Amino acid sequence: MYFGVDYYPEHWDIDLIESDLKRMKEMGVNIVRIGEFAWHLMEKEEGKYDFSFFDMVIEKLNKNELKVMFGTPTATFPAWLAKKYPSILSKDEKLMVRSFGGRRQYCYNSDIYWEYSEKIVRKLVSHYKNEKSIISWQVDNEFGHEGSDMCFCEQCQEKFRSFLKEKYETIEKLNETYGTIFWGQTYNSFDEIPVPLKTITTHNPTLQLDWARFRSYSLNNYANSQIRLVRELKGEHQTVTTNLSGGFFKKFYDHEENTKELDFVSYDNYPVWGGLKEPVSPAEIAMTLDFIRGLQDKNFWIVEQLMGAQGHNVIGYLPRPDQAKMWAYQAFAHGCENMLWFRWRGMTKGAEQFCFGIIDHDNKDGRKYNEVKSFIEDMSKYENVVISPIHSEVAVVYDFDNVWSWNYQQQSQKFNFTDELVRLYSPFYEQNINIDVISVKKDFSKYKVLVLPVMQIIDKDLQEKLESFTEAGGTIVFSYRAGIKDKDNNIHFGKTAPCLVKEMTGIEVVEIESLQEGQDVKIESVVETSSDSGKCGVWRDIIKTVTATPLYRYKDKFYDEYACVTVNKYKSGEVYYIGGGVNQEILENIASEILVKNGIKGVKSSKDLEVYPRNIDGEKYLFITNHSSEEKEFENIKLNSYESTVVKL
Ligand code: GAL
Repeated sequence: MYFGVDYYPEHWDIDLIESDLKRMKEMGVNIVRIGEFAWHLMEKEEGKYDFSFFDMVIEKLNKNELKVMFGTPTATFPAWLAKKYPSILSKDEKLMVRSFGGRRQYCYNSDIYWEYSEKIVRKLVSHYKNEKSIISWQVDNEFGHEGSDMCFCEQCQEKFRSFLKEKYETIEKLNETYGTIFWGQTYNSFDEIPVPLKTITTHNPTLQLDWARFRSYSLNNYANSQIRLVRELKGEHQTVTTNLSGGFFKKFYDHEENTKELDFVSYDNYPVWGGLKEPVSPAEIAMTLDFIRGLQDKNFWIVEQLMGAQGHNVIGYLPRPDQAKMWAYQAFAHGCENMLWFRWRGMTKGAEQFCFGIIDHDNKDGRKYNEVKSFIEDMSKYENVVISPIHSEVAVVYDFDNVWSWNYQQQSQKFNFTDELVRLYSPFYEQNINIDVISVKKDFSKYKVLVLPVMQIIDKDLQEKLESFTEAGGTIVFSYRAGIKDKDNNIHFGKTAPCLVKEMTGIEVVEIESLQEGQDVKIESVVETSSDSGKCGVWRDIIKTVTATPLYRYKDKFYDEYACVTVNKYKSGEVYYIGGGVNQEILENIASEILVKNGIKGVKSSKDLEVYPRNIDGEKYLFITNHSSEEKEFENIKLNSYESTVVKL
């Protein structure tokens, strides 16, 4: 197993390196990640490549028997390049240039950037292809992060038009698909089509979805060409990866497409960031880890694991003693096999003065150093468990077309895609089972339960895939707005919602209501033996059951004969429909009912105590992480605030 740190020897007086490496070794580190922002250090002037600094660093790392993950440096480019070719700089929605000074401001559609990044990467990887200590290449750094997936410049505009031309072939076809007759937007030729800059009210929804697809294509075209380049040049003993940042569903690129050619997926795990007063929920962190594992359907690396408080200009929540360590346990539970922490030591200069690492600015081994050290000691004992594959019987399914469609048309002020995904992930997570988070392109046949949160785009292909799933006896859970749109982001004509999945769900959505801040409607159980009641916010579908059985109905004057939650027996399976932003308690009851019916056994634990099962060769292990500041107990095992442990049953 690899345990390591993100190290930036170029940030420090080089005399510190010997003691840094010694302390890292003492902490248990066997790998460091270097290089990913150091283009200028490698090419101070155009064409004058010089890797002597890193040669020296690698020599020292070798002496200490430390392995290396080397980052290609294209996430930040040298000032001379921006000065010579300002067209490499991307532009925002108001056509303002993103100036040199931050990071990731390059345009994915700049031919010049392609050329220069190819040159530096060629030189760098060729230089180190025989270097034994470099066992992996990290391509670029966090593609698409911090808004860098968007650019509205002239180069993008031109390539967007070509992209549309290739897709639609004729302008008539595009006009027809977009419905440009509306507001008299009909185009006579492709060169009249705008990129969606700021306008009054909003752009055409199909144009917006095509724009998102184009952004994804632009980013992945660049990323995959870089990945292929590194693969072509690297040594045989070296692998290729890239590090993904969080916030997946706010980004405009298909992550599966981005990672499909990598040897393994790497993730930067930051459960808290600048400005947040508390970390994201345990369920949401778990969901992100399951998403990362789902990309290649295999275990992954974390190459940046948070240890201290983070933030550029505004700092966020301070992880409490043992809390960041607990997040490391949680990550290994969910399929992380190797981990590097960000960063070895907090920097005194530059934009990340307030991104705290393992060591603080005082350069002393403190609490965080000891936490990492003890974590490495502990986790090293479980290598066989850590590298074992995770098999889930429940999958939460997303589709980036659907995510982007929502992104442009939230339909309720309270709508947030990630929240809606977590709303349905969370009740299953609470049962302490293995869950995969996968794209709609994946094979469904190995699962017993599929959960499709707010899947408003459902076309014939997906409908058929879901039909076969129910034929094989599977259970499907939809939530509101399911199936109302086609792949062009247009509403199905002549069909009652949920359109292509109407028969499957056995319902008709007769009316809809967008619910705003503070507007929750009451719902109550219609099952005779239950007096359960709850509420629903963000949205509600007002449902008439056809073949389905109502489970909850609305409890208000005009709609009390209509259902909010239903279940339908369909083919050999069952299909649930959650018609709104229903509260967690109700969803947890539904989830446990589904698991019981499908013979999936969860583990009972108290709130905020995650008990994640791992099965290996008939042996069962539990990764127990206490996400709360209170002491918790699980089957006579006491866990202090934020304490974690691994037990063998
Ligand atoms: C990550 C990034 C690192 C560093 C870190 C700060 O998103 O990859 O380079 O900026 O955040 O927390």
